[in-house]
Amino acid sequence: MDKVYEKVLRCYECVRQKVKFVPKVALVLGSGLGDFAENIQVEAELSYSEIEGFPVSTVPGHAGKLIFGYLGEVPMVCMKGRVHFYEGYDITDVVLPMRLMKLLGAEILFLTNASGGVNASFAAGDLMLITDQISCFVKNPLIGPNIEELGTRFPDMTEIYDKELSAVIKNTAKEHRINLKEGVYLQLTGPSFESPAEVRMARILGADAVGMSTAVEAIAAKHAGMRVCGVSCVCNLAAGMTENPLSHEEVQEAANKAAPLFTGLLKESIKKF
Ligand code: HPA
Repeated sequence: MDKVYEKVLRCYECVRQKVKFVPKVALVLGSGLGDFAENIQVEAELSYSEIEGFPVSTVPGHAGKLIFGYLGEVPMVCMKGRVHFYEGYDITDVVLPMRLMKLLGAEILFLTNASGGVNASFAAGDLMLITDQISCFVKNPLIGPNIEELGTRFPDMTEIYDKELSAVIKNTAKEHRINLKEGVYLQLTGPSFESPAEVRMARILGADAVGMSTAVEAIAAKHAGMRVCGVSCVCNLAAGMTENPLSHEEVQEAANKAAPLFTGLLKESIKKF
């Protein structure tokens, strides 16, 4: 059997020995959303380090665990902390959690992240519904022998972000008077922030926001037949768009500030999935 799939199966067996819960929705919590699980009726928790072979993040503020529980009636699993390609992991490890959550039963993947705004009409703190994506200079996570058990060799990516789920999120934002932007998310590898020229490149390519996660996760999930949706917290205007240099602290501060609104949007949307 393919080594990559074998590793996912090993993680699956390891989780199943400890947790019997079957989630419908998988939610990846981006910067600032670490406390989201306070909103769910928790049934089980597993530190990433307890799952044999599961990638463990090295970034401060991304300490990781899987949290299983109910949001209203919806059984879900939350990923508190994710690993990024820039940490040096193989791209197949970066997307292992998506494949694992699919095997655990999740049909829907809700991706969240922090990003830099490339669209000049955006402001720091805006929330952006991800309508499409550009994976830029990041290794495609499907490179290697195709995992037939998960999906097809050449998966269609016409609609990575599910229109129905996106409509639910948009309607929820409207109901709660949340100003939700929409746009294309472009993933670069990081970990350096972009140069102003790279931000111009991203804009010319059609991006509205730029970040260091998510696109590869969405590709792997779509390949595995999950329905995907995503919202990004635009934490800053990207490099060169203001006078200010960028810092991780500034991004985290903006993400923390936007968290209550972001949490509300997630909570109310997922209840309707
Ligand atoms: N660039 C890339 N990733 C980010 C940014 C940015 O400006 N802000 C938050 N995440």
